Amino acid sequence: MSETSAYERFVRPLLFSLDPEAAHHFAIGCLRYFPALIPKTTLTHPTNAFGLEFRNPVGLAAGFDKNAVALPAWEALGFGFIEIGTVTARPQPGNSAPRIFRYREQAALINRLGFNNDGAEVIAKRLRNFRARNRSPHIPVGINIGKSKATPLENAAEDYLFSFRLLQEFADYVVLNVSSPNTPGLRTLQEHEALVGLLRTINREGALKPILVKIAPDLSDSDLAKVVVACEENGVAGIVATNTTLDHGAIPKGKDEAGGLSGAPLREKSTAMVRAIAAQTKLQVIGVGGIFDAASAQEKFNAGAKLIQLYTGYIYRGPSLIREIVAAI
Ligand code: FNR
Repeated sequence: MSETSAYERFVRPLLFSLDPEAAHHFAIGCLRYFPALIPKTTLTHPTNAFGLEFRNPVGLAAGFDKNAVALPAWEALGFGFIEIGTVTARPQPGNSAPRIFRYREQAALINRLGFNNDGAEVIAKRLRNFRARNRSPHIPVGINIGKSKATPLENAAEDYLFSFRLLQEFADYVVLNVSSPNTPGLRTLQEHEALVGLLRTINREGALKPILVKIAPDLSDSDLAKVVVACEENGVAGIVATNTTLDHGAIPKGKDEAGGLSGAPLREKSTAMVRAIAAQTKLQVIGVGGIFDAASAQEKFNAGAKLIQLYTGYIYRGPSLIREIVAAI
């Protein structure tokens, strides 16, 4: 690991003195309203994936900027791409708080936010505004969409379609999130028939942008094989591996919380998924889960990831993590 950064010395103690969700709101607020204060960082390691050009292969994972409020800031911080969302068709408040839990010793988080977001219409309007004011970022923007909680599972495809119709034009790529553990039943959309149904619904609409599918690290080998086949047979451009895990083995008994676990304890599991996907298909993979330094990033590339994304590691390590990774590739 590199030497301690200014973020780790000064900013993280402040953020970690707050409740995790309050820290998140504070950080997002600063990035949203004061992007001009960020010294512009451009980190270059050109990468091509899904027919798109990436300045560097290190992206911000979904869930950090769910509502697409801080787009100029992410570019200034040096990311090669960003993924906004998860966006749902209807605005929704998510689960009741507290719903993000920090586990410092394990370098992990558990969250059960439940897709709190402004909804597809408001977010489409926000993205249109960025565009009209010439403030859209110059790096690829992925839009991650999911199912509204109030929509019954059997109508899931129409719910995704509603968001897809509104948001596709603002996306460089679209991710169908079928792997959050915090929306009841959502993960069953990874099952072959349901996934094929969802992909056909999106394809019928006319997908103009690359479509990716984001999967759980908890799939069995045989379920993963079926997901890969469904993706290959329905024109999917890539797989995002992985979302958070329901395996809380790393969390001491008595401190556990319901939700999805992210961070260091997820690292090996998500790398194993990336490796398993790369072994059976040419679909391109975005590797995400437990990346905290150059070595854990390189591990994902070695396993077959074309691009990687950061979330929990970024909270613990801060902006210098991107520089450290890109310098070492
Ligand atoms: C997430 N993640 C996530 N993923 C997604 O597809 N849609 C979402 O809305 C969210 N929301 C979210 C909130 C919080 C607080 C966390 C910690 C995570 C999952 C995230 O994008 C990523 O897949 C996992 O966290 C694994 O990567 P890390 O955190 O181990 O780097």
